[in-house]
Amino acid sequence: MNKLKAALTNTADSVEVMLDTLLTPDSSTENRIYQAMRYTTLGGGKRLRPFLVKQSADLFGVREINALRTGAALELIHCYSLVHDDLPAMDDDDLRRGKATLHKAFDEATAILAGDALLTLAFEVIAQPETHQDSEIRIELVNMLARASGVRGMVGGQMEDLQAETKELNLEDITHLQRLKTGALIEYGCEAGAILGKASKEEREALVAYANDLGLAFQIADDLLDIEGNVEETGKAVRKDNHAGKATFVSLLGVDGARKEAESIANRAVGHLDTFDDRANLLRATAEFVIARRN
Ligand code: IPE
Ligand code: IPE
Ligand code: MG
Ligand code: MG
Ligand code: MG
Repeated sequence: MNKLKAALTNTADSVEVMLDTLLTPDSSTENRIYQAMRYTTLGGGKRLRPFLVKQSADLFGVREINALRTGAALELIHCYSLVHDDLPAMDDDDLRRGKATLHKAFDEATAILAGDALLTLAFEVIAQPETHQDSEIRIELVNMLARASGVRGMVGGQMEDLQAETKELNLEDITHLQRLKTGALIEYGCEAGAILGKASKEEREALVAYANDLGLAFQIADDLLDIEGNVEETGKAVRKDNHAGKATFVSLLGVDGARKEAESIANRAVGHLDTFDDRANLLRATAEFVIARRN
């Protein structure tokens, strides 16, 4: 676990520098939107998604700059999703990553625009030649990122999540919701590493299967933290899901049942990595980390 923590910190530091560069204002653009984007993106978050890109890409000897740019683009999408998730029309949250949410620190309209700008910047970054010299690879990265972010991915899952406040959902429905809402971007992290590394079909499928389970375990842990966690560690409000009447794994299975389910799914995730040697050990440790985390 210590090795994993060190590697996570290392990637987080490199991603921070990359994001800082990508979010440097250009003189022709209104500074307030850059300020808002920087406020919400820099200096926080576990940076788990870029870490997954980096670790998956490392299996295939991908150049660090390629993995970092792809990971940073994915983090931009993740940050946008959080900004919009926190808006009054959605989860209506005041605290994120230990500080005021963007619409609180700035205003709602700026938060909507900053979210839009982060989303579009992500695609600009992926499409640029510095991300990979091979344009076919870049197109594949764009295609998969669009899919993971949109109606068949995160946005589709967020819609189902809103409906989960008023609809009875069974385990299958919730699994579907979580795979889209949270799983899709996590899956993209690993698949992007495989795309950058021109992995074989078998290797790519193994990474996707791993990430699919990892994403699910990750969201169950998030739902557990909403009940068992505290604001100091998570940096966001807790005990909100139940209050909102939201159907989650925890509301269906109870705390113990949800924890057992997360453990079994995390074990299954590790099983998908059998085709890889020791170089996948940090990915194996990540499965343990996502369910043991306190933030
Ligand atoms: C929070 O994601 C939103 C979910 C998808 C559950 P993270 O727990 O990865 O948030 P940060 O990036 O570390 O703040
Ligand atoms: C958000 O899920 C997932 C996103 C796509 C942003 P949550 O609403 O459970 O995330 P938190 O708990 O606010 O971080
Ligand atoms: Mg939400
Ligand atoms: Mg939320
Ligand atoms: Mg949550």
